[in-house]
Amino acid sequence: MIPLTKNKKYLLKTERLGLRNWLPSDEAPFSEMSQDKEVMKYFPKLLNKEDSKNFIARMQNNFETYGFCYFAMDILESGEFIGFTGILHQNYKSKFTPCVDIGWRLKKSAWGNGFATEAAMACLDFAFSELELNEIYSFATINNKGSEAVMKKIGMNYIDTFNHPSLINNKDIKKCIVYKINKT
Ligand SMILES: CC(C)(COP(=O)(O)OP(=O)(O)OC[C@H]1O[C@@H](n2cnc3c(N)ncnc32)[C@H](O)[C@@H]1OP(=O)(O)O)[C@@H](O)C(=O)NCCC(=O)NCCS
Repeated sequence: MIPLTKNKKYLLKTERLGLRNWLPSDEAPFSEMSQDKEVMKYFPKLLNKEDSKNFIARMQNNFETYGFCYFAMDILESGEFIGFTGILHQNYKSKFTPCVDIGWRLKKSAWGNGFATEAAMACLDFAFSELELNEIYSFATINNKGSEAVMKKIGMNYIDTFNHPSLINNKDIKKCIVYKINKT
């Protein structure tokens, strides 16, 4: 069998994962995970096909412009696309922005294997060593314990809780925690 990873060009590789720019072939699996109520529990809505397409286009645009985005992520051994982990410019209005944040979203079947942590560590290393960024933030709605656990696991520190301006009309998820890690 020809490995599915053969034609994929990875910017970052970990022991088990490949991180890369997005491909047209990611549209179907990304759209499927964006329709999963558990994956999207802490987001304002499920993404329809058009939303997913727009998200991918925004990531490709960031990758081409800045050299990074929330990277599409595959398991190297199988070539299976399992979601994303990466870094992204955030420009909404708050006391923490503009900044670069780190984020993750995996399909359910991939949860609980340490993948988000493994990929996020590689992204931090890339951000500090290659991009020479000085600090990275991470944001999650206050009840998202899984996301907060990843932040802690990769060495980030809690700094604040705030009402996210993009979620201000959604009382269930507007309150967000902020974590941060510095280069040093
Ligand atoms: C959050 C998410 C990315 C975690 O991915 P993952 O690959 O399962 O995370 P890891 O396996 O690296 O786990 C890291 C730590 O978090 C813990 N953890 C994971 N999910 C958890 C949960 N729901 N509650 C509490 N702890 C959790 C793990 O136990 C692990 O700690 P341990 O090694 O001490 O046991 C994944 O659950 C997801 O995609 N969720 C939906 C999308 C989302 O909410 N994204 C974040 C938006 S801010």
